[in-house]
Amino acid sequence: MCARIASRYVCGTCGAASLRWEGQCRSCGGWNTLVETPVERKRPAARRAPVAAPSLTALSAVATHDSERLVIGLREVDRVLGGGLVPGSLVLLGGEPGIGKSTLVLAICGAICGNSSDGRVLYASGEESAAQLRLRATRLGLAGAGAGPTADRIDILAETSVERIVAAAEASGPALLVVDSIQTLTADELEGPPGSVGQVRGAAARLQAFAKEGGVPVVLVGHVTKDGSLAGPKTLEHVVDVVLTLEGERFSGLRLLRSAKNRFGSTEEVGVFEMAGHGLIEVADPGGAFLETESLGAPGVAVAATLEGSRPLLVEVQALVAPQVHGSPRRTTAGLDSQRLALLIAVLGRRAGLNLASHDVYASVVGGLTVEEPAIDLPLALALASALRDRPLVSATVTCGEIGLTGELRPIHRLAHRLREAARLGFTRAIVPRHSGRGDDGGEVPGIELIRVATLREAIAAALVEGRERAHEAQPAVFPIVRSGA
Ligand code: TYD
Ligand code: MG
Repeated sequence: MCARIASRYVCGTCGAASLRWEGQCRSCGGWNTLVETPVERKRPAARRAPVAAPSLTALSAVATHDSERLVIGLREVDRVLGGGLVPGSLVLLGGEPGIGKSTLVLAICGAICGNSSDGRVLYASGEESAAQLRLRATRLGLAGAGAGPTADRIDILAETSVERIVAAAEASGPALLVVDSIQTLTADELEGPPGSVGQVRGAAARLQAFAKEGGVPVVLVGHVTKDGSLAGPKTLEHVVDVVLTLEGERFSGLRLLRSAKNRFGSTEEVGVFEMAGHGLIEVADPGGAFLETESLGAPGVAVAATLEGSRPLLVEVQALVAPQVHGSPRRTTAGLDSQRLALLIAVLGRRAGLNLASHDVYASVVGGLTVEEPAIDLPLALALASALRDRPLVSATVTCGEIGLTGELRPIHRLAHRLREAARLGFTRAIVPRHSGRGDDGGEVPGIELIRVATLREAIAAALVEGRERAHEAQPAVFPIVRSGA
């Protein structure tokens, strides 16, 4: 072994180097910006060999690897990855602790071993002992009584040294290497504690080199906290090829797998899972999975016809408004953009005569889903109007549409696609922008009464049941939702 490589602590903001770690950079004054970085001593210029010009390849002559993707066999995961794992790619799977990352990677290992007859996978865990992993695998039906030969092909390594993990992988030549989690790893040449920015980067760089050299896909698990403050995944996002995040509410069963970055495919698709007693189950048909039948028909509830990638999803938006007690009014959101909520409150006040300026406002999307597309504007505004007026929406109504600053409704794309799903789940009425998107099919769908509106004011008039006394009539006794896939 060569001598230990010296390290310096380099400021991430200004680049100043220091010999030891300090809480504050002496040069720029930034706090907690110093990161341990290994430095190799340069050889004197006189002894440096002349650099031979590397050979170049024309773009058209570069071999494509796409056909060689490693198909996992879990449809929801393959869908998010864009058709499987690309050889030599580094995939980061992030998520809050306890959300189900280890369960998902173990299921991925099981699916790969169950599919191909000769591949082995290496699961290196710095978090759990081999015995704990075995227990989990038994729970998932991969090991123990009645399980097939799948578990024979999953190699387990309880290890935190990245060099030892790479050595083991080089020796066994797996079809996939999983490392759970990147925060527990240490690189031998660095001194910082596991999980520090320097260690996380160093370990990821070593694993990336292994992936690229051997053409083996590597999946790294990384924890993120709600505010994303923990060192780790955030600092890695630009290093890895694919960033997947597993999200959802810990206490509800649904989990969403999204890709925040994908060098080999679209970042639009989401995968939907349900956490059950024996692992994560794929929800192949999630259209109505995010609706809670119990609350439909209550004031402050609206159903949105949204799209996640190419998939229509019906989601329930809930709002509560209450007279503000003291201080400035509260605006709290879950699964919705708080800036957008503030804007819609302003538009409701100025363009629809519904003043929420002295109310506390709470708005959320049911089921732990986060909705980013602008078509959620109209359902959110209608939920707010419904909550303020304390009148429910007319039963079996779905809505979607973007709202402009003048209170006008803007067209949304793929209207018919969304409404077909709504019709399938038993909705009969849709409030939509007057014009549909360019190149769209107009949104006509059998079984759905289309109500086209030009402004938010018109939408509110069409959406809310008329008098308080009619609210009871309007509530459907049984709501015809098929909760499918679960
Ligand atoms: P885990 O995969 O350990 O989460 P992470 O690696 O993201 O920290 O799973 C966390 C939770 O999932 C755990 O608290 C229990 C639950 N769970 C199930 O409900 N069913 C199962 O089959 C398994 C394995 C876990
Ligand atoms: Mg875990």
